[in-house]
Amino acid sequence: MKTSISVIGAGYVGLVIATCLAELGNEVTLIDIDELKVNSIRNGVSPIYEEGLEDLLRKVNMQVTTDYEKTLPSKIIMLCLGTPSDESGINLNYISEASTKLAGILKRRQDYSVINIKSTIAPGTTEGLIIPSLEKSGKKAGKDFGVCMSPEFLREGKAINDFMNPARIIVGEHDRTSGDVLCQLYEHFNAPIMRTSIKTAEMIKLASNAFLATKISFINEIGNMCKQLGIDAYDVAKGMGFDDRIGNKFLNAGVGFGGSCLPKDLKMLIAKAQEINYEPKILEAVLKLNDEQVVRMLDLLKKHVQLKGAIIGLLGLAFKSGTDDVRDSRAIGIVDALLKEGAIVKAYDPLAIKNFSQIFPQIEYVTIEQVLNSDAILILAECEEFNKLDYKGRIVIDGRRVAKAREAEIYEGICW
Ligand code: UGA
Repeated sequence: MKTSISVIGAGYVGLVIATCLAELGNEVTLIDIDELKVNSIRNGVSPIYEEGLEDLLRKVNMQVTTDYEKTLPSKIIMLCLGTPSDESGINLNYISEASTKLAGILKRRQDYSVINIKSTIAPGTTEGLIIPSLEKSGKKAGKDFGVCMSPEFLREGKAINDFMNPARIIVGEHDRTSGDVLCQLYEHFNAPIMRTSIKTAEMIKLASNAFLATKISFINEIGNMCKQLGIDAYDVAKGMGFDDRIGNKFLNAGVGFGGSCLPKDLKMLIAKAQEINYEPKILEAVLKLNDEQVVRMLDLLKKHVQLKGAIIGLLGLAFKSGTDDVRDSRAIGIVDALLKEGAIVKAYDPLAIKNFSQIFPQIEYVTIEQVLNSDAILILAECEEFNKLDYKGRIVIDGRRVAKAREAEIYEGICW
């Protein structure tokens, strides 16, 4: 059913959701407090790189504004604000501030609307923090307004496709009426809809990302052993994957997982476990092993090159290929360590140089060919163009399994 929707937060998730919902014919208002971002989106320029997003943005009709008052006519209000992790834990400030602003709006609303939380939050956050904040309006959840928590499972780089073709839709509902409104919105999607409690929906999102991260650290652990035993971890993963209880996806061994979701969501789940006095043994090991992959990569490099004064070329700076996002990219820890050891770093990435240079303005950003003129090359993302280079005569340490790199004079795969 077509409806009027406000989306609060024009980050990766909010911008993709708003644009897709507008493409599906809904009346969409996208709200963000960042005026520069709002102006850019209004002009059809996406502030982030996401495959196909800019074309869609230019095609659709949606209102983009900094003004929360514009949520007033919307039947559904989606909260898509970031929950980044910082030294003190997970930062819920954006969510808190938005809930307070929405309470001000709810106070003046006569008609019923549903607030739908899309942000990734720990179990209990909607009921413990967001609903009490919204109820400061004097209105009551489940009576005057509805509340749902419906997480997103979008992969960066494939987000539009993932939104339009979801594997499942999880509707965590405060009450039946709230859930009915969301289910109507999703009725034409060709995916199972699971209705559940809000807390369960919050946990489904965290558990899904934690499981994906576990698969990666698991295969990396097997891969680290394989490397020592002279076995190719990719052959092992292939052999395992024929069993459909295991599956053949997300078993690519390498330098580990990064991005704004997997590492942060694991930390969120670990923090929740600690809060309830439960020791999360597997989750902590997954995170630890992931950090150690970076050290392993550097150890392999040091086997072949004296780092002090050496020129080290990096291929791949984003946390994976197909994105300009460098949040928690494995490349950050690697560059940090290389600089500390006195190496000279020359780096290339097809999309992420601008973002990476904000963290490391002091390293040299070069063309893909110039990276080849280094004393050794580290491969940190699996971009297609890395598979077309001439690696002959080079030293390559590969963290992402780029087939062509095997022709290098000295080639080391991290787990193979
Ligand atoms: C992840 C989830 O895959 C999405 O389902 C989820 O919606 C999203 O987080 C989120 O919470 O918003 P994303 O962060 O875009 O999506 O990245 P992934 O494609 O999951 O990759 C994460 C990291 O794992 C990357 O660094 C990637 O290189 C690494 N990876 C992935 C491996 O090392 N091995 C693999 O087999 C797969």
